Amino acid sequence: MTPEVTKRQSKQKKKKPSPMYKLGSKLKDRATGRKEMVWAGITGIGSYVPPKVLTNDDLSKMVDTTDEWIVARTGISERHIAADTVLTSDLAVRAAKKALKSAGKNPEDVDMIIVTSASPDQIWPSTACHVQAKLGAVNASAFDLQAACAGFVYALTVGSQFVETRRAECVLVIGAETISRLVDWTDRGTCVLFGDAAGAVVLERVEFGYGFMASFTGADGTGADLLEVPADDKFIKMNGNEVYKFAARVSLDAATKALKQAGLHREDVDFFVPHQANARITEAAAKRLKLPPEKVVSNIVNYGNTSTASIPLALDELWRSGRLKYGNIVLTVGFGAGLTWGANVIRWAKKS
Ligand SMILES: CC(C)(COP(=O)(O)OP(=O)(O)OC[C@H]1O[C@@H](n2cnc3c(N)ncnc32)[C@H](O)[C@@H]1OP(=O)(O)O)[C@@H](O)C(=O)NCCC(=O)NCCS
Repeated sequence: MTPEVTKRQSKQKKKKPSPMYKLGSKLKDRATGRKEMVWAGITGIGSYVPPKVLTNDDLSKMVDTTDEWIVARTGISERHIAADTVLTSDLAVRAAKKALKSAGKNPEDVDMIIVTSASPDQIWPSTACHVQAKLGAVNASAFDLQAACAGFVYALTVGSQFVETRRAECVLVIGAETISRLVDWTDRGTCVLFGDAAGAVVLERVEFGYGFMASFTGADGTGADLLEVPADDKFIKMNGNEVYKFAARVSLDAATKALKQAGLHREDVDFFVPHQANARITEAAAKRLKLPPEKVVSNIVNYGNTSTASIPLALDELWRSGRLKYGNIVLTVGFGAGLTWGANVIRWAKKS
């Protein structure tokens, strides 16, 4: 944590305690009888992208488009595509193994697996159950959480609460996609956008005041037809202009609400890790939040929109770059079909 942040936050805490601190002061630890609440945080992280790369030039041979158009309108240069034989659960397991390793955990240590995916293996059983079997996480319950591209923010919100309420000690949250299979490769308005990937985090108890400081989730089902895979179709249909406006609007709204809930201000944010849907949406959101470029994490250039996997993939790259330090404030923002959106404020608790 930077000295400025410490100073500012301690002042805020004295002036107006955040709801989390207020709640914490009233709760007693059931085991010790001491007045303290459990804080959940990310203690391990990992990601995986399939090796096959599809460049903008490759796409220009498939549909009427150009590298210049795609880069200028989206910021994307290339995306990764899973082989035909690879399932979403396979990508999820690759990312999960890395996350468990980084947390120093074995599959048997996991109490719960939450998979969020816009392109699950099948309608049911859940992809999470396939992941549980492939990992050998024999002690874990498993379920899928569906909130389209906002799924990872939703899943973090749900998973962290299982740790905070002591219903689970070790929760594996995974965002995984073979979303390229839902893409109509003759529709230039959508096929240039998406890519396959997986990202995973391990959630566990962390020291008091670290980890999840606030989470916000929202939905508006009246916008369902703006971005969907229609029930009688198998491909993504999207009103790009309307989704663009929605994404820019809710990113600011979700971030502002989550920061307020955490008792923090925009300038307290060390890293902004938004859903990577379009570099222009990320830039617009960062500008409205008055965040300088060095605090904004954007890797869409290499992966496209990987839906639920985009936030953990970006967060993992940030972590592996060595820039993310113990105590840093990370703001995630997600949005997607539903319409759904949300944000998490996380004080990074993983020791380097
Ligand atoms: C899809 C998106 C990139 C389109 O960019 P845009 O600047 O809004 O472009 P428009 O849709 O207005 O189209 C402008 C022109 O480019 C054309 N165009 C669309 N896709 C094209 C492509 N891949 N290559 C070349 N031209 C293309 C359109 O046909 C249109 O041509 P016209 O003017 O002759 O009608 C943009 O709307 C977007 O990113 N929306 C959000 C999508 C998203 O994030 N979805 C997932 C959310 S989780």
